[in-house]
Amino acid sequence: MTTETPETTANSSLPAQPAATPQPLGLEPRIDPSARVTKSTLGPYTSVGPRTTIGETIFGDYSYVVNDCSIMYAAVGKFCSIAAQSRINPGNHPMWRAALHHFTYRSTSYGFSVGDDHEFFDWRREHQVVLGNDVWIGHGAVVLPGVKIGTGAAIGAGAVVSKDVPPFAIVGGVPAKRIRFRFEEHIQQGLLDLAWWDWPRAQLELALPDMRKLSAEDFVAKYKGAS
Ligand SMILES: CC(C)(COP(=O)(O)OP(=O)(O)OC[C@H]1O[C@@H](n2cnc3c(N)ncnc32)[C@H](O)[C@@H]1OP(=O)(O)O)[C@@H](O)C(=O)NCCC(=O)NCCS
Repeated sequence: MTTETPETTANSSLPAQPAATPQPLGLEPRIDPSARVTKSTLGPYTSVGPRTTIGETIFGDYSYVVNDCSIMYAAVGKFCSIAAQSRINPGNHPMWRAALHHFTYRSTSYGFSVGDDHEFFDWRREHQVVLGNDVWIGHGAVVLPGVKIGTGAAIGAGAVVSKDVPPFAIVGGVPAKRIRFRFEEHIQQGLLDLAWWDWPRAQLELALPDMRKLSAEDFVAKYKGAS
């Protein structure tokens, strides 16, 4: 669905209530009332946590982002997990201009008559961030404009990702460097061939017990040719 939510604020003066048992996710994205989602498309079983903002983003089925994150001009695959206080595509400022400040492009907000600088925002749009499927973004990570992160990659807590990350790599640090790959090459290829993230829900349900108990290598061996 394409969605736009009004900005709302949680009322912290209410007495504390016992936490309600969360309802299962469903076909409609679950967006916390304090989150703000604009000009974006969210798939089924997605969820967006408190105070997170998402703009001009495609957010694939089952992906979730928890609290206090920002995602802008991004294409997020299916089954991605985005931890708190992460930032996906913080916009660069115009370093080639005499002034770095907002007023040169968000000019209307400052009462200037020339209008906003749409070409500047198009430039930001061109630097889309792309996450593959089943990407895990650790707490407080920052993924810089234009970066592409491959399927199955894990981004360590606090990383600043300035370069593309290959599928199934684990990266960390500032700037993020490869720590290792999660799997040997033949397992990586096996998972890409299986593409379980594209399976229909009924197939996922059947495979779920094996996903829990088998190693990735054994899972690939058992389900090879199932896609
Ligand atoms: C990166 C991570 C996934 C661990 O990966 P791993 O391959 O098991 O890494 P290890 O713990 O074996 O550490 C390997 C090396 O990477 C370093 N490292 C681990 N995590 C790191 C991080 N976030 N940033 C920088 N370096 C990191 C370790 O210090 C170690 O360095 P050394 O080889 O010089 O000793 C984990 O440390 C992490 O950051 N998890 C994120 C947790 C999180 O944010 N959860 C949010 C809720 S979903």
